[in-house]
Amino acid sequence: MTEAEEPKKQVLESEKPSDLPPAPATAATSSEEKPAVVEAPKEEYKEKSEEKAPEPEDESKALAIAEKREKEQRRKRAMPAIGVSSTPLTFVMHALGVAALVLVLVWSIYFRGGFAWEATDKSLIFNLHPFLMVLGLVFLGGEAIISYRYLPLRKDVKKLVHLVLHAIALALGIIGIYTAFKNHNETGVANLYSLHSWIGIGVICLYGIQWIYGFLVFFYPKGSPGLRSDSMEHFGLFVYILVVGNATLGFLEKLTFLESSGVEKFGSEAFLVNFTALVTLVFGAFVILISVISQGPVEEDHSYSDI
Ligand code: HEM
Ligand code: HEM
Repeated sequence: MTEAEEPKKQVLESEKPSDLPPAPATAATSSEEKPAVVEAPKEEYKEKSEEKAPEPEDESKALAIAEKREKEQRRKRAMPAIGVSSTPLTFVMHALGVAALVLVLVWSIYFRGGFAWEATDKSLIFNLHPFLMVLGLVFLGGEAIISYRYLPLRKDVKKLVHLVLHAIALALGIIGIYTAFKNHNETGVANLYSLHSWIGIGVICLYGIQWIYGFLVFFYPKGSPGLRSDSMEHFGLFVYILVVGNATLGFLEKLTFLESSGVEKFGSEAFLVNFTALVTLVFGAFVILISVISQGPVEEDHSYSDI
């Protein structure tokens, strides 16, 4: 084959969606090499369109493939630099999430007397708040984000899992916030006086907006390819970081209240609450880390057009 024929062959091969170019070798990925890898699809497509003058329909299809490959390569370019597969990280992440939930349950039931929706002891109503927030927005929200990275399923199925998990997370988050308000209202405490509560209201509103945006743009009626860009990932991660940060603030606030009403600063409960907050924070950090640097399972279908 002559040198002139080589790019053409690459273009034809690239039309198979699952046939993405191999990721660059981990150690060899230098800053000078990166642009060449990323720009390649555009160059190849340009040559092809000059030679064959494709129909408009073919052209938009090829453009979508080129966009798709570019996005995949951008992601892969970051990943081999660190060389991280999502599987071991995801395993640690699940374990941390379950540990955070167990710790919140142990604290609420063993140290704080358990849960109740209606009770004369109003603190039992409040106990639902940390548990529902950690279970909903933190744990299920994190699992929803990472579901794209470890589930060996078709993209449209993963999209449904992502959507449903976020919907459950949002519903639990709303009920969880309601329990904090219920506790305040039934004990005559003012609402929304703390930084935690202000950020909390902001976070739940952003989470709701993000869900509606995701639903409209990716599920029904679906937005244009321009709208279906990386904005979902970036804004979604931003909201999730606020969720985890605010949960940590909640633990700090509650422990400070408890300590000022007699709980020992170096006692077992104080240690448990701090440790629970730490595990929650590290879980959140793993979610973000996996989403940003790791590589998910190889899929048959990488296409935005199919989602
Ligand atoms: C991201 C998850 C969380 C969100 C969005 C959130 C949101 C809120 C909101 C909006 C309030 C105000 C209720 C009112 O003014 O009546 C509140 C209260 C409270 N939350 Fe959270 N919360 C979260 C997690 C937690 C966690 C894990 C704890 C740990 C114990 C906690 C502890 C508290 C406490 C002590 C209050 C009452 C004092 C206050 O209003 O600041 N929160 N939370
Ligand atoms: C509050 C709710 C939501 C949050 C916080 C959120 C967050 C995220 C994040 C962080 C990612 C990047 C995941 C990764 O690649 O590692 C992502 C991807 C994605 N989300 Fe959401 N999301 C939400 C709701 C939705 C909804 C309702 C849909 C509708 C189907 C949706 C569709 C998608 C799609 C299709 C992707 C994959 C984009 C790609 O190809 O990489 N999201 N989301």
